[in-house]
Amino acid sequence: MSEVVKEILKQYPDAGHDSLIPILQQVQDKIGYLSEESVIEVGKHLNMPASKIFGVATFYNQFRFTQPGKYHIQICRGTACHVLGSATVLEELEKLLKIKSGQTSRDKMFSMEVVACIGACGLAPVISINGEFHAKVTTESLKNIIENYRNREA
Ligand code: FES
Repeated sequence: MSEVVKEILKQYPDAGHDSLIPILQQVQDKIGYLSEESVIEVGKHLNMPASKIFGVATFYNQFRFTQPGKYHIQICRGTACHVLGSATVLEELEKLLKIKSGQTSRDKMFSMEVVACIGACGLAPVISINGEFHAKVTTESLKNIIENYRNREA
């Protein structure tokens, strides 16, 4: 069993089903997503089938099941960003990375997620990459932003 999951489960010695969500939140905080292996371990601990846990977890859109990329991009689709063209930015991002929201690129470098307002409407349309905001994104500036991250790895 992964040490991380083991440590988390230790905090819930007599856990019942009502501890499922807090446990999953901690697992995701620590390893960035809910791997199949960790879901199975949590299931054994709570005496719940993994399929049931996946069922519950997919209901909450805070959980992700694929490993995030090294650079996790959140693209805001809130109202202010929408009005200023975030739909086009999203389309361009999908094209550049060849992935859709919730997916990770094959080289594991980028993952993306569509989110609601991230509280920086003055910067709309805005994207955040590993928590760093990029303001007033256009299809042109997006290309440069992605290129810059790619170059960091070259
Ligand atoms: S709508 Fe995008 S930051 Fe608020």
